[in-house]
Amino acid sequence: MTKRVAILISGGGSNMVALAQSMRGDHPARPVLVMSNDPQAGGLAKARSLHIPTLAIDHKPYGKDRSGFEAALHKALQTARPDIICLAGFMRILTAEFMAKWEGRMLNIHPSLLPKYKGLHTHARALEAGDTEHGCTVHEVTAALDDGPILGQARMSMQADDTPQTLAARLLPLEHALYPAVLRRFAAGDRTPVTLQG
Ligand code: GRF
Repeated sequence: MTKRVAILISGGGSNMVALAQSMRGDHPARPVLVMSNDPQAGGLAKARSLHIPTLAIDHKPYGKDRSGFEAALHKALQTARPDIICLAGFMRILTAEFMAKWEGRMLNIHPSLLPKYKGLHTHARALEAGDTEHGCTVHEVTAALDDGPILGQARMSMQADDTPQTLAARLLPLEHALYPAVLRRFAAGDRTPVTLQG
């Protein structure tokens, strides 16, 4: 049976586009919803142009009421009935309670070679550490931030004159290759990690 995929974004949605465009032909999954916590997210228009239903649930009116925001998110997801949820540049931290409801069905892409550099500013931190290699990771989402079983990694060498900006720019095409490759395997029930070299 074809798997239903919901993609959660907060920004430009380039990873969402890569995922959506990969779900064609004999792919075991199809996108059913693109949802954003930011009604202005550029990715929403891109999703509409790909004929994917979209929804914005603005987190701001909820203020500190995280569970109210998550209840709205959960309700929308229940309506869309996804088998798989892909977080793709979704910039809200989700509570353990919310994640437990979707455990085993939620993936995330993180711009570092996890377990290194959980959280923000991953490119700057890789530079500060003097790393010679950087990359991105797709992992299953569990209650701990940027943790959970690793489903794929793409690696690239760092150069002497790299900046956080050049690293981000070189890494993004690798993210666009890795996430669809992992999703295809995951949707087919295969959790063997994908390894790519940039
Ligand atoms: C990506 O670098 C992703 O790894 C990070 O946020 C960025 C999202 O970019 N979590 P986009 O919205 O997919 O273009």
